[in-house]
Amino acid sequence: MATSDPADASADAATSTDPHDLPDEVVEAGHEYEAARERVEELRTRIRYHDYRYYTLAEPEIGDSQYDALMRELRTLEEQYPELLEPDSPTQRVAGEPTAGFAVVEHREPMLSLSNVFERDELFAWRQRMVRLVEREEFRYVCEPKIDGLAISLVYRNGRFEYGSTRGDGLRGEDITSNLRTIRTIPLVLNGAPADGPPVDGEPSALPAAFEVRGEVYLSKEEFRRLNEQRAEAGEQLYMNPRNTAAGSLRQLDPRVTATRRLNLFVYQLGWVEGDRPVTSHSEAIAWLRSLGFPTNPLTETFDDIEQVAAFCEGWVDRREALDYDIDGVVIKVDDLATQRALGVVGREPRWATAWKFPAEQAVTRLKAIQVSVGRTGVLTPFAVLEPVFVGGVTVSMATLHNLDHLRGLDIRAGDDVIVQRAGDVIPQVVGPVLSQRKGRDLPVFEMPDACPVCGTPVAHDEGDAAYYCPNRACPTKLARLIEHFTSRGALDIEGFGEERSAMLVGRGFVSSLADLYDLPEKREALLEVDKIGAKTLDLMFAELEKSKQQPLHRLLIALGIRHVGSETARALARHFGSMQALRHAALEEIQAVDGIGPIVAEAVYEYLHDEEYAALVDALAAHGLRMDEDVAARGGILEGETIVITGSLDRWSRNEIEEFIKSLGGKVTGSVSKKTSFVVAGDGGGSKRDKAEALGVEIQDESGFVGLLRERGWTGE
Ligand code: IVH
Repeated sequence: MATSDPADASADAATSTDPHDLPDEVVEAGHEYEAARERVEELRTRIRYHDYRYYTLAEPEIGDSQYDALMRELRTLEEQYPELLEPDSPTQRVAGEPTAGFAVVEHREPMLSLSNVFERDELFAWRQRMVRLVEREEFRYVCEPKIDGLAISLVYRNGRFEYGSTRGDGLRGEDITSNLRTIRTIPLVLNGAPADGPPVDGEPSALPAAFEVRGEVYLSKEEFRRLNEQRAEAGEQLYMNPRNTAAGSLRQLDPRVTATRRLNLFVYQLGWVEGDRPVTSHSEAIAWLRSLGFPTNPLTETFDDIEQVAAFCEGWVDRREALDYDIDGVVIKVDDLATQRALGVVGREPRWATAWKFPAEQAVTRLKAIQVSVGRTGVLTPFAVLEPVFVGGVTVSMATLHNLDHLRGLDIRAGDDVIVQRAGDVIPQVVGPVLSQRKGRDLPVFEMPDACPVCGTPVAHDEGDAAYYCPNRACPTKLARLIEHFTSRGALDIEGFGEERSAMLVGRGFVSSLADLYDLPEKREALLEVDKIGAKTLDLMFAELEKSKQQPLHRLLIALGIRHVGSETARALARHFGSMQALRHAALEEIQAVDGIGPIVAEAVYEYLHDEEYAALVDALAAHGLRMDEDVAARGGILEGETIVITGSLDRWSRNEIEEFIKSLGGKVTGSVSKKTSFVVAGDGGGSKRDKAEALGVEIQDESGFVGLLRERGWTGE
């Protein structure tokens, strides 16, 4: 220890580090070094703070350029003073060289798995077992979304991240420290960590000397989409789902690749602790971990009543879609750690926790064949014939394959084992083949048929277009599908013409053109001969047909099934031209000039109206008395420019009615909430859309609020 007493200075000169004894330049350099060291510390603290605000809380305080300036300054100082470089500096998140393989890490305490329950009774049985074992009725439960990612273990020593590993077989995992460092929400230095190295003896530290924390690494749905868009652009094979992508990303031998994947983390458990455990319950542990800077799931809730637990779990089945990450259930844990210990573990599963699993949204099954269906425009759509499989709560035996490009892009072949997905009400889809199951089998690449599978007409295909189609206007399946479309809710809304009946009407020769529908009343007797059609049904169909004649022009335009013409386009055309006659007389340029109508759509409309056969059809419909104009009052309106989402059920309107109504006032109705949504009209039972609106800060109106808003804007209707 040097002394500052000038009297001793000469004696100590040779070994002293007292600045008073050193040459000026050295002293100067020492000061500079000291100043740099302090500045480096300060910069790291500030950057860590801003990382936490940005990545973990998603509430940044400073802009990108300010943040970049801090990083740049830190990097420069670390280059200038390499001795100040530390592995847990924020600059070290994306460094690291590829490794040949991963070292094995033995878990000090096994990483357990969870028992499953799928419904209330099983949940109650789980609780009953605990009641029997600890002879107590009361428990406090913590419920957390079960993140569909990968379990990892992180070890911290002296407040710093030391190493991290995968779950592996529960006893041994792989050391993936370099990869984990690239995950921005994993704190490298904890709040309250001693500034330099281990705490000085006798100095109290809020942190245990070392501890383990466990959590789930996942990839957000948005990141998953972003990665797949990139891969699609680069012509690379797409990733199957966020979980597999996260798994692949974590086990990359090159951490620089991991860093590009923007993985994320939620911690859900405090593991072993060297020294005193700072908490007595799971919820305290989670709160403590959060205070140290770990990301914890904000959707966690605590209940004292198992009924509430069940309601919470059931509530998530529908709401999970709105989350930006996949969850496959809810984890229910007994909160009190002493009770957890008393209950213990059976096999690999703790008795004090269980997972309420949602019906799987993905399953693997055999693709028996690829077949082709014909749509109303004649487009041939390949679809999968599957070995029936239970997924998303139903048995699926068929799934769409979209088009040839899609199918080839995923390299799906008949005979493959494929991943099938069905989320919510969405139609089942084939996500992709399980390539490892194809092995040596030589499966043929799918080819579109040369002839229409229904009428045998040679198939047509436009260069550069993914679609193949049957060009035969009289193709019976095409016509049957067109009738289904013509009569559907969004079109002329004529009840009684479902899939089977439309096919029958075409198959038995009752209808060979859309206009023939209006001649059906004349064929009453013959129709009565047909199985399954009674007089009552027929009369209803006829009444419906009669009623449909009053539908405004835009509905008719939708119903005709003109290529590229959906409800928005039809509305724009009807509003602009006001009548079929005006539209038929419009030049191509005039159609193109309509707001929201592009050249391809305009051309399709123009061609349709000037096609001899279609023109005859429109004439025939007019001759049957169908209305051929639009209510001009519908042009412009009090909801012009507003994008509205509807959720739940309303008293005053059915879903179709309110959509129509909003559109008639110039508003736009969309199916999902985004920042662009003007407001959400929420009726009874609105779930995920309401949550999403709340999350995005989008205005929510209940039914009476919506009516009030309309009245304010001058609506006088009932
Ligand atoms: S607790 C003893 N909590 O589910 C308790 N696990 O099937 C062990 N998981 O390996 C786990 N979210 O990968 C727990 N909030 C959560 C979880 C969660 C996802 C995963 C984890 C674990 C698996 C067990």
